[in-house]
Amino acid sequence: MNAIRGAITVKEDTPEQVREAVSQLLAEISEKNSLKKEDIIYIMFSSTEDIKSFYPAKAAREAGYGTCPLFSAMEPPIEGALPLCIRVLVLTSLEGAPVPVYLGDAALLRRDLTRRLVIALDGPAGSGKSTTAKNLAKDLNILYLDTGAMYRACALECVRRGADISDENSVKSVMDDIDLRIEYKNGRQVTMLDGGDVSEEIRRPEISQLASKVSAFGCVRRKMVEMQRRIAATMSCVMDGRDIGTNVLPNTEHKFYVTASVEVRAKRRYEEDRAKGYEVSYDSIVNDIRERDKRDTEREIAPLRCAEDAVIVDTSDMTPEQAVEFIKNKIQEKI
Ligand code: DC
Repeated sequence: MNAIRGAITVKEDTPEQVREAVSQLLAEISEKNSLKKEDIIYIMFSSTEDIKSFYPAKAAREAGYGTCPLFSAMEPPIEGALPLCIRVLVLTSLEGAPVPVYLGDAALLRRDLTRRLVIALDGPAGSGKSTTAKNLAKDLNILYLDTGAMYRACALECVRRGADISDENSVKSVMDDIDLRIEYKNGRQVTMLDGGDVSEEIRRPEISQLASKVSAFGCVRRKMVEMQRRIAATMSCVMDGRDIGTNVLPNTEHKFYVTASVEVRAKRRYEEDRAKGYEVSYDSIVNDIRERDKRDTEREIAPLRCAEDAVIVDTSDMTPEQAVEFIKNKIQEKI
């Protein structure tokens, strides 16, 4: 299920303009979301109090959306609110990230939702990057792509096929026909290998080290980067990884480098791993993080590096909410 947001303004409060605006808004929402009428569960409208001439719900029924429940309400008059505006929320049975539609003057108000927004978040393991990326994507109602999961899946496939991880040729033969897909279920990324969900399995601590090793190979990176670019070319997303701002999406204007002290990162990972029931020691995690940082930053191809034009977000003393707020404010300054 997903909920699609949208809004449109009219120039004058006349039945014709309300009918036309509602019809246009719903048609565009359907097109952008590949939505069929039978996928719609209900449609709710709210309009500003200066729209009195016609019910948007009635306009929707007339436009052929009468098979699902329709509802309209009037918003209270609020000073400074966008005048002559009709807002809509369409609840659908579809999965995946919904595409909001803002038309007329409403588009100017929500530039963050009307422009394709591609946000690159890089940083070392345990920096708070993936929590931040996940929450940010949820807040902006756009897709979250965890690229680390893709490298982890490559490592898992190498283990399953008994490949020699220190030998690029052996890894390459796995990469040649790996069946890796990223899907979205209930708004969550699901990593699929050979048609099976491996989202949990790839989180095992030993896979972390192996992912760091296989991700240093050109044959692995080329394939993953191509998949990542294809996703970012078609939809708004928050992409997190090590080389997103420097290599995968060097032209995006929203780049962040999320970091934190090694001690803070180790403590976070320790707590996360313990909560998942893994037997780990704090010292081994510190060593593991140092080892991974070294390998990720010193590898020849696309090493972990802060892009020159990235904003640094040090989360050592930030709550997850503060990190998201900080990034949202920086994005807002640019759009
Ligand atoms: O973020 P993570 O811990 O899930 O990533 C696992 C490994 O994958 C990490 O050690 C480095 C590698 N990686 C990468 O090289 N490039 C990316 N864009 C993402 C992850």
